Amino acid sequence: MNKGFMVVFDGSNGAGKTTVINEVEKYIAQKGLDVVLTREPGGTNIGEKIRNIILDPTTPEMCDTTELMLFGAGRAQHIQEKIKPALQAGKIVISDRFDAATFSFQHYARGIDLTNIMQINDLALAGFKPDMNVILDLDPVEGLNRVMSRGEGLDRLEDEKLDFLVKARNGYLTQAKEQPERFEVIDASQSKAAVLSDVIKVIDALILKHS
Ligand code: TMP
Repeated sequence: MNKGFMVVFDGSNGAGKTTVINEVEKYIAQKGLDVVLTREPGGTNIGEKIRNIILDPTTPEMCDTTELMLFGAGRAQHIQEKIKPALQAGKIVISDRFDAATFSFQHYARGIDLTNIMQINDLALAGFKPDMNVILDLDPVEGLNRVMSRGEGLDRLEDEKLDFLVKARNGYLTQAKEQPERFEVIDASQSKAAVLSDVIKVIDALILKHS
């Protein structure tokens, strides 16, 4: 049996995570390997309820600490209920966002003190870490244009000023620079085929490492 591992797809809003994740799922399944797709905020029944609260555009009054703790609460449940059992069963877990997003959005963009971020994140993670974070990097102006062209409207975080999304993007790039062994940055402004080709190289290397 292959050893399970977890890869997170993260990055700028509108960078094409969903498309990439769906293609990666097909690619892994074609190899006969078990794959579990999940997301944050969300991933469990409780997590999806928390997601609705976090992203609700009608509650702009949510304070920063509430937001941080809601992400933490959802993450604790996600790891315990879904991620750890899947990994123990030898499955490949693919998550649409995870802990790196808290550093990017709540610390680098929101400006919450790093100590507070670490306290909540460490409590939720309890020593757990994903194996790899793939950052789909895109200029937030381009990302927002893509989100708006889908006609879905903006959620509470996408509705922040552009400067917030620029800081979040830089937060991902900073984390990637500081922890090159846990991060791969992929240029999401390339063609879909080129992005997928870069992503598959990362996935192949992970499969090889855990086989
Ligand atoms: P998305 O799933 O549509 O990308 O939306 C999730 C939003 O939540 C996105 O704007 C990033 C944000 N987010 C945080 O601010 N902190 C976190 O820890 C996570 C997981 C997501």
